[in-house]
Parts: sequence; structure tokens; C-alpha cells
Amino acid sequence: MKKIKKNILIGVTGGISSYKTCELVRFFVKDGFSVKVMMTESAVKFVSPLVFQNLSGNQVYTEMFQVLNAETIQHISLSQWADLCVVAPLSANSLSKIANGICDNLLTTVICAISNKTKVLFVPAMNENMWKNPIIQRNVKIIKTIIHYTILNPQKGELACGVYGEGRMPDPEDIFKQAKVSLKNNL
Ligand SMILES: Cc1cc2nc3c(=O)[nH]c(=O)nc-3n(C[C@H](O)[C@H](O)[C@H](O)COP(=O)(O)O)c2cc1C
Repeated sequence: MKKIKKNILIGVTGGISSYKTCELVRFFVKDGFSVKVMMTESAVKFVSPLVFQNLSGNQVYTEMFQVLNAETIQHISLSQWADLCVVAPLSANSLSKIANGICDNLLTTVICAISNKTKVLFVPAMNENMWKNPIIQRNVKIIKTIIHYTILNPQKGELACGVYGEGRMPDPEDIFKQAKVSLKNNL
């Protein structure tokens, strides 16, 4: 019998570790998942959507107001398509927007529109001072109160800014393993 492919929606925000998300997409595709990628305007400055388009085999979504199909509203159809959403890396900026219900681009609007029956795994990555900033930590706490949201905490290690500290995005394999746990726990 043919295995039904689960749909994985990957969100990418503007962080240096977005290069690791390319490998994460490959893990899902190799394991037989259908993958779609959405990116913020800042994320596009780090990795070209063309890379994700080729790795996922699907078009990449970046624009809120682009009409691809007159019969569907893009942010709603993407939010309904996903069996699991993984946002990696999650920037301090997008984390704060999501925690406060701000929907000013495609990615934040899709996250807000996702039903509470679909898990969302957030993988924040940033400079240590940003991660430890009380405002960011307050927003992390807000996200942790939401039943279908999970945060995979950043790790200690060498950061892109050249210092050793907490803020590093976990390796793609570890995110992939955690994502599979989230999928199993889908409500
Ligand atoms: C080289 C460079 C690296 C950056 N890395 C990060 C990062 O790892 N984490 C983060 O939260 N912001 C990082 N930023 C800042 C974000 O790109 C910026 O806050 C942006 O507004 C995020 O937008 P978005 O959340 O819509 O993607 C970086 C900026 C630059 C120029």
C-alpha cells in the first residue's frame, strides 16, 4: 500500500544559520515528506529561494499579496496544507511578532492561521545577548504557553558573531528528530 506523505511547512527567517535549513529540507525530502518553504523578506537576503525551491521540489512562498491561484487565499491554504510547521531559524524579530500576534508578512500570518491541531516547532537562533534579553525571554515564555507550539532551545557553541555562547541553532539532524516527535504528538 502506498504510504501517504505528510506535509511539512518550513518557515525561514532572517538569520545566519538559515544555511543549515537547506540540509533540514533535504532530511525531510529524503524521508518521503512533502515540503514547502516560506521565507521572510530578510531570509531571502541570506539564502536564495531558488535553493529551497530546488531542494524541496516546490515553489517557495515569500509574498503575502501575490495571487497564485484566484480560488485560494495563500496564507490560509498554506496553514491548512501543513501537517507540521517548523520555523528554523526563528529570528528574535519574528519570535517577538509571533508571540504578540503580529501578522505583517506571509510567515507570521500563516503561523497565526495554523489550527491548534497542527504542531509548530520553533527553532530560535541568535546572538547570546539577544537570546537572554528579558523581552525576548518574555516572548519565549508566551510561546511556551501555547498548546500546539514547541520551542527547541538554542545550544551553546560558537556563534556567527565570533563569540562562544548560547544562541546557536541545533544541527539539522537534531531538528529533524525533534520534528518527527512533534508529528507523532499531533493532537
Ligand atoms: C549578517 C546578519 C546576521 C543576522 N543573524 C541573525 C540571527 O542569527 N538571529 C536573529 O534573530 N537576527 C539576526 N539578524 C537580524 C535579522 O536579520 C533582523 O532582525 C531582521 O529584521 C529579521 O527579520 P525577519 O524576522 O522578518 O526574518 C542578522 C542580521 C544580519 C545582517
